[in-house]
Amino acid sequence: MERDEFIKSLGFGLALVCTGSCFQACGGKGNTGTPDPNPNPPGGGGGGSTASVNLGSQLLAVGDQATANGVLFFRIAAGDVSSSFVATEAVCPHQQGALVWKQALNKIQCQLHFSEYGTNGAVLQGPQNTTGSTRTLKIYSTAVNNGTLTATIA
Ligand code: FES
Repeated sequence: MERDEFIKSLGFGLALVCTGSCFQACGGKGNTGTPDPNPNPPGGGGGGSTASVNLGSQLLAVGDQATANGVLFFRIAAGDVSSSFVATEAVCPHQQGALVWKQALNKIQCQLHFSEYGTNGAVLQGPQNTTGSTRTLKIYSTAVNNGTLTATIA
């Protein structure tokens, strides 16, 4: 291969790499305003993994919340039985804002664009006062065993 041909082939290869990177960056989910169809929790996601909190030190009072392994846990009633708790995604499906339980409002609320969800995961209000879109939150099944609340991430 001649030197000129070699340089031309390098330039073509470099152009392909740059184009691919640009398409990948432009095709990302960060700027579309559309919900991520499958935002698995960090460290969790798929395969029936679990996340747990210690009820001896966490979620002691109604309204308390904690996050573990990408799961938001909160207490909605007294008693250490699974029906006293809700376990859902810790980040918003819209653009990954942090989700928090607002006991006084009886809602899960995103802290980035303020989407609101019910305890069953239903969308009560979309991003920025319904000018965007999101999706229903995943609600994980929970079990209490020896003072530990465990959610199964299906
Ligand atoms: S990240 Fe936009 S509403 Fe939650």
